[in-house]
Amino acid sequence: MSIPQDCILRKAREEDIDGVIYVNSETLPEHYTLSFYNSVLTTNPDTFLVIDYNGRIVAYHMGRIEYGFSLKGRPLFIKKGHVISIAVLEEHRRKGLATALMQMALDQFWKNGCEISFLEVRASNEAAINIYKKNGYYIAERIRRYYNDGEDGYVMEKKLSK
Ligand code: ACO
Ligand code: ZN
Repeated sequence: MSIPQDCILRKAREEDIDGVIYVNSETLPEHYTLSFYNSVLTTNPDTFLVIDYNGRIVAYHMGRIEYGFSLKGRPLFIKKGHVISIAVLEEHRRKGLATALMQMALDQFWKNGCEISFLEVRASNEAAINIYKKNGYYIAERIRRYYNDGEDGYVMEKKLSK
């Protein structure tokens, strides 16, 4: 699936952070501090991605490479690609933007040596769970009351390969 011609998928730059914060504030209840966005951008520039539509940020993917144990199989210490947050402004949904962001991020996680990718998602977030399943993630774990408001979360995981 390709994205509309007037949308550009690219790595984020410092001047995009205001636009990323705007998209996040319009779409998700989980917000982060400016210094958090800046630190992820500095430390993980390959997996902090945006969609630029006529000079405006309409979608983002914030990813971070971490070390931790694999959830499935033997508990091996591995490099993991954490999808911290992904979101698309409502008026730009169902155009393949999140899919394009995820595919570029997965490619970058793999090139940076990650063996798996993982994320947390609200158990009620059907749209997001659907897109993750479509991209090869499976539910690895359910965490009771993971979110501040008491909702359960799923940890979803995907094994990476070429
Ligand atoms: N209902 C059911 N399936 C959906 C939906 C939906 N609302 N949205 C996407 N999908 C599935 C479909 O299979 C879709 O393919 P199709 O359009 O051919 O049917 C496929 O995912 C691909 O969709 P995209 O167009 O690539 O996804 P989009 O750009 O619309 O973004 C997203 C999806 C990111 C979940 C968007 O709805 C959004 O921003 N939601 C609010 C923020 C959010 O919940 N983010 C995820 C939180 S969890 C985390 O960040 C780790
Ligand atoms: Zn997370």
